[in-house]
Amino acid sequence: MTEIPEHLLNRSKARRAEASGQASSDASPAVQASATPAAATPATPAVPSQPKPVAPDPAYVVAAKTRKKIPFWAMSALSLLPLWAFMYLWALTPEDKVVEGPRSIGAAVYAGCSGCHGAAGQGGAGQVLHEGEVMKTFPHIEDMLNFVYVGSQSFVSEGLPTYGDPNREGGAHKPLGYNGNVMPAQGPTAGGGLSEAQILAVACHIRYDLSGADPASEEWASEYAEWCSPESEIFKALEEGSANFNNIDEVFNMLEKKPIKVGTTARLGSSK
Ligand code: HEC
Repeated sequence: MTEIPEHLLNRSKARRAEASGQASSDASPAVQASATPAAATPATPAVPSQPKPVAPDPAYVVAAKTRKKIPFWAMSALSLLPLWAFMYLWALTPEDKVVEGPRSIGAAVYAGCSGCHGAAGQGGAGQVLHEGEVMKTFPHIEDMLNFVYVGSQSFVSEGLPTYGDPNREGGAHKPLGYNGNVMPAQGPTAGGGLSEAQILAVACHIRYDLSGADPASEEWASEYAEWCSPESEIFKALEEGSANFNNIDEVFNMLEKKPIKVGTTARLGSSK
C-alpha cells in the first residue's frame, strides 16, 4: 500500500474546505491530529509490553541447556592432553642402551684425584693437569696409564730419572719433582684401588675434558677413537678382561695406531 505524504493530504483537505465554503481554520485540526499520532492511537505503546507467547524448547535443546558443562579449572588439565599423548608415545619407544663411555666413567673416578689435583685439574698438592699440561707430559696415553698405575715412588725405586716425555716442553718431569710430593700408585698390583679400565677412564677424562684435547683434531683423533671414545674396543676389552696393560700391544696390534705396551711396573716414557 502506498502512503500519501501528509502535506499533500493537508493541502487537499484545505482545498476541499475552500471549495465547500468552510472556514480555513477547520484545516488545523487535521494538521494537529497528524502531528500527534500517539494521541490518535492510544493502544500503540502497550503492544511491546505484551508478553509474546514463547514456543517451548524441543527436548534436545532442553537437554543441551541443562547438562553439566566442563568446569573451567578442567581446561588447564585438558590443555596438557597433547603433551601426555606425546610422553605416552615416547615411553613406548624402546630405550636405547645407555652407552657409558670412558669419559663419563672417568669423571666419577676423578673424585678420588680432585683432592690433590683440583676439581678442574688446576693443581694443588698434586700436579697441574689442565690446559694441555698433561698432554705435554704424556704425548702417548700409554705412558700416562703406566705412571698412574705405578705412582711416583716406583719410579724412584727403579732409579728412573724422569717420567713421561723425556723431551717435554719446559723440561721432563722428575719423580717427586713437584714439591717432593708423592703421586700414590692406583693400579691393583702396585697397591692401588682402581682397575685398569678405571685408570684408562680417568685418563680419558683428564685428557679430553680437563686438559681440553680436541678429539676431532688431527693430533688426537686416532688416540681418541682407539682409547677414549664410547666405542673404544680397548676400553671394552679392559672392562671384560680380554686384554690388560701387559698384553694390550699384542691383542690390539691390528689397530692403525698400534698401542705401546702399558706395563704394570715403572718404565721410561717416550717422546712425541
Ligand atoms: C695424594 C695426592 C694425590 C692424589 C690423590 C692423586 N695424585 Fe696425581 N699427582 C700427585 C703428585 C704430588 C704428583 C706429582 C708427582 C711427582 O712429582 O712425582 C702427581 C702427578 C700426577 C700426574 C702426572 C702429571 C704431570 O704432568 O706430571 C698424573 C697424570 C696424575 N697425577 C694423575 C692422577 C690421577 C688420575 C689420580 C686419581 C686416580 C691422582 N693423580 C691422584 C698427587 C696426587
